[in-house]
Amino acid sequence: MMSTLQIEKNKSLLTFNTFKMDVMAHLFAEVLDEDQLIEALNIADEEKVVPFILGGGSNILFTKNVNSIVIANRIPGIEKIKEDEKHVWVRAGSGVVWHALVEYCIEHGYAGIENLSLIPGNVGAAPMQNIGAYGVELKDVFDHLTAVDIRDKTKHHFDAAACAFGYRESIFKRTLKDKFVITNVTFKLNKIPHFQIGYGAISQELEKMGVQELSIRSVANAVINIRRSKLPDPALIGNAGSFFKNPEVDAITFTTLKEQFNNIVGYPLPNDKVKLAAGWLIEHCGPEDGKSWKGYRMNDAGCHDKQALVLVNHAHARGDEIFELSNRIINSVYKTFGVSLEREVNIY
Ligand code: EPU
Repeated sequence: MMSTLQIEKNKSLLTFNTFKMDVMAHLFAEVLDEDQLIEALNIADEEKVVPFILGGGSNILFTKNVNSIVIANRIPGIEKIKEDEKHVWVRAGSGVVWHALVEYCIEHGYAGIENLSLIPGNVGAAPMQNIGAYGVELKDVFDHLTAVDIRDKTKHHFDAAACAFGYRESIFKRTLKDKFVITNVTFKLNKIPHFQIGYGAISQELEKMGVQELSIRSVANAVINIRRSKLPDPALIGNAGSFFKNPEVDAITFTTLKEQFNNIVGYPLPNDKVKLAAGWLIEHCGPEDGKSWKGYRMNDAGCHDKQALVLVNHAHARGDEIFELSNRIINSVYKTFGVSLEREVNIY
């Protein structure tokens, strides 16, 4: 079969990343299936460059042009592959928009990812960083995935253990970083919902909505309402969701911090550690005494006024300006609380 792969030269990535960074890709190709992916990877080999695999572009801050080939993953398809009395297995192409998969599951009555409604990005990125929100993580519904080895183009299956999931982590962000391209992901969903509404904001929102009987749809709607109220819509203002991870500290450090900062927010973890709300830390320090980072603006680079964990591009911020702001915040949080923040967003 003749290939239909199109290679574009000097393409602006402005509309391909939610931070809206106007950087250029030397070469650019959109791939619709595994054959096209392998063809694009072969071009990278011929050009002797490291390919840049792009999904929804919703977790990346570009600080420079990409002088290689950007391979935009558009592998489509959602299908039910098997079921038993309690579960249904759904396979989705890695180029499927994540929320489109959530909608598909809600429509078909498949439970498990309703709390993950409206997370920007594509299916392929979901396991890479084990996306999570409102008490649910991707790993809770993950069955397995298929990925192509960038080096020798062979196909591999990864089950949950092989993915080594952690908080916003997987093997694809660690030892296998830039080594594989995920082509499809299979989820194991529930026919009988086990609703996760323990997260305070969800139960409050459900009450506000006047929901009497829980359904997959009502929980999804509650999550959608909360997200819309706090998180900036990337269609309107450039951002990549939480810019930092919530840091973990040991119980003694937390007690000490709590003595000094009475209202500090922390959640005890099963491993005796405490996860701190980085948004709270960022809100409670600032560029100068008595000021908060929340709502702060350095030219067009800013800290969101409703969720301090999110950095935003008000219009024409450059990647290095956002990065500089993130450095200033990291230093300020460290100086004030002695806690090191780690970035959650990938930096290029
Ligand atoms: N908080 C503040 N000030 C702020 C922001 C938050 O005091 O400016 C406090 C809140 O009052 C609350 C606590 O921090 O007590 C937690 O806030 P929130 O519920 O908004 O969640 P988060 O911990 O800031 C995490 C995820 C989000 C996810 C939400 C809901 C990370 C890095 N972020 O944020 O994920 O939507 O929980 O589950 O874990 C993302 O990864 O891009 C993302 C948006």
